Amino acid sequence: MPLDAIRQQIRANYLPDEDEAVKRLSAAAGLSAGERKAISARAADLVRSVRGSTDPRLMEVFLSAYGLSTKEGVALMCLAEALLRVPDTETMDDLIADKIAPHDWSAHSGGSSSIFVNASTWALMLTGRVLDEGEGGIEGTLRAMVRRLGEPVIRKAVAAAMREMGEQFVLGRTIAEAVKRGRPMTQKGYLYSFDMLGEAARTEADALRYHRAYTDAISSLDAGSNGPDIRYNHGISVKLSALHPRYEVAQRETMLPVMAERLLSLALAARHSRMGLNIDAEEADRLDLSLDVIERVLAEPDLAGWEGFGVVVQAYGPRAAFAIDWLYALAKKYDRRIMVRLVKGAYWDTEIKRAQTLGLSGYPVFTRKANTDVSYMACAKKLLSMTDRIYPQFATHNAHTVAAILSMAKDRESFEFQRLHGMGEALHETVRQVEGTRCRIYAPVGAHSDLLAYLVRRLLENGANSSFVHQLTDEEVEPEEIARDPLATVETQGPAANPAIARPAAIFGAGRRNSKGFDITDPVMLAAIDKARAEFAGADRWHAKPVTRAAGYGKQRRIVNPAKPDEIVGTVHEAAAKQVATAVRIAVDAQPAWAKRPVSDRAAILNRAADLYEANAAEFFALAIREAGKSLADGIAEVREAVDFLRYYAAEAANAEAGTEARGAIACISPWNFPLAIFT
Ligand code: FAD
Ligand code: 2OP
Repeated sequence: MPLDAIRQQIRANYLPDEDEAVKRLSAAAGLSAGERKAISARAADLVRSVRGSTDPRLMEVFLSAYGLSTKEGVALMCLAEALLRVPDTETMDDLIADKIAPHDWSAHSGGSSSIFVNASTWALMLTGRVLDEGEGGIEGTLRAMVRRLGEPVIRKAVAAAMREMGEQFVLGRTIAEAVKRGRPMTQKGYLYSFDMLGEAARTEADALRYHRAYTDAISSLDAGSNGPDIRYNHGISVKLSALHPRYEVAQRETMLPVMAERLLSLALAARHSRMGLNIDAEEADRLDLSLDVIERVLAEPDLAGWEGFGVVVQAYGPRAAFAIDWLYALAKKYDRRIMVRLVKGAYWDTEIKRAQTLGLSGYPVFTRKANTDVSYMACAKKLLSMTDRIYPQFATHNAHTVAAILSMAKDRESFEFQRLHGMGEALHETVRQVEGTRCRIYAPVGAHSDLLAYLVRRLLENGANSSFVHQLTDEEVEPEEIARDPLATVETQGPAANPAIARPAAIFGAGRRNSKGFDITDPVMLAAIDKARAEFAGADRWHAKPVTRAAGYGKQRRIVNPAKPDEIVGTVHEAAAKQVATAVRIAVDAQPAWAKRPVSDRAAILNRAADLYEANAAEFFALAIREAGKSLADGIAEVREAVDFLRYYAAEAANAEAGTEARGAIACISPWNFPLAIFT
């Protein structure tokens, strides 16, 4: 299939029907009943041998004490994630007061056999000694402590705890330190892919700093390269979001050449140092854009003959298999051999939250873990059939996934396994020794100040009770259960979409539908909006007059587009002062009849208005942009706000009617602050 056609397939599968996607992938995994049974048995053996071979690491013990299922675990995750977005220390303190103080840490204090767990707990709370003393239990002590010491001290304690945890996941602060700390592993035969911590650059200065860090890292690794074959040398992993502060669809035209130039310079440096360079996969809304960057750079004639260009594909996205087809076709078109690292995906929580916030029509990731596992197996199978152009790199810590690959891959030389530093150590060591497979370790390098985003993803990943690494530490879960065949789970789970995760339209429950969202990072959606908006592009398009039975108008004015002063948008007749007085009188006279209408009637009118806003959204976007000079994103937000308010008051009215009588609400429900007297 031509590249463009595959690209359309990728786009068409952004928010697909999960049932169809999972059916397609289950079939594509193409494993017989016998193979599936053998894979699970091998995986269960791996679980047994891994469980017997190592002491759990600090993080694993910590997370089994503070799993996400406890409210403290949730508070910690919320706090860490929220701290990422908080620009100033004052707000951080407010957040800590909100998230830490109300929770009960006492249930965990002293409850674990590892002193490290308690150390982390105490670090979060300053000192354990203080905790054991005082009145009102630990909660009371904590509150008193916050009162006495203030949030800044707590903030520092949290930061210290985060730092301690970070040390498990970061190999070194500098590349030299990382190489040194990694030596025992290298001596065993492992290789590294170093990741210079830093992502989502906010400023050009940050982007240039991250670019420099990658450049320096590549050059200092040069001497360690063993020979011309990238498979036997260390590599580097790059996040595109680190290289440009406006890595977003809206900035495509200006961003693309700069991003491509920066990435190319790193690729050329890696090539010179005989290393591979992987482009990490980030948020789902960046995928389409990343493919543009990838094609631009891979097409560069200077990269001909280099086999180290690598792309990461996330199996939790229903587009994964199509993305692999596209990469294969791309490699063919430019006559390249490339690397593809298959992962499940590290941004699951973010994706779910984003889709719900934006009111999308579905999710860009699978909503049941087994679906992701099946997708991974299908994608692995595909990659293993493309080894003439692709060097597959299977990144996982899951014994079942590893066993599935070992069963599918006949040639041990044609691929490599990968794991993250601080995770999956015993599993991969066992497999390496028994199977003679290669393994590369993804190792973050950098300062603690750049660690948090990465650390939060690891905490979420290790803390989720569905995750393999989490289950491995829980001796109560039988090896056979951990190694259960995901294809069997998919066959028996019922609908593929997880019923516990509300669809984005349904997050407010049965009483109120979420406003319809418009994802302007989705090229298909963007094209549809542009097409619909084009109808409202003409000059002198709108003519507004007071909507009242009061006769007469005031002055007429021309409306111009504030962003393009010579563009006439339309005209508006102001209301004359006398007319306003008449209009108010008419409204007051009409009020008793309106008030007598059943609440359900009035609520239905609001819901109808909301539906009309949505049905005419394109015109409102055009109006917001052309009359008020708003961006498309702002125009969308305006319309959604109006729709949400309308539905909210309609729902509240219904609730109020069920309880007490609805009274006296005035809501500003229109984008243009048009006040509506709804209930009296
Ligand atoms: P498992 O426990 O088998 O799987 C956990 C994963 O399942 C979750 O991470 C999630 O992807 C998925 N999942 C969990 N719950 C659900 C659910 N309800 N519905 C659907 N899916 C669910 N990640 C990136 O995003 N981009 C990268 O560039 C990247 N590079 C990596 C490089 C290496 C070398 C490694 C080892 C990992 C990398 N990762 C990357 C992280 C990777 O995505 C996670 O480590 C991986 O998902 C964990 O999978 P697992 O097979 O080890 O564990
Ligand atoms: C992440 O940064 C490993 O790329 C993956 O979470």
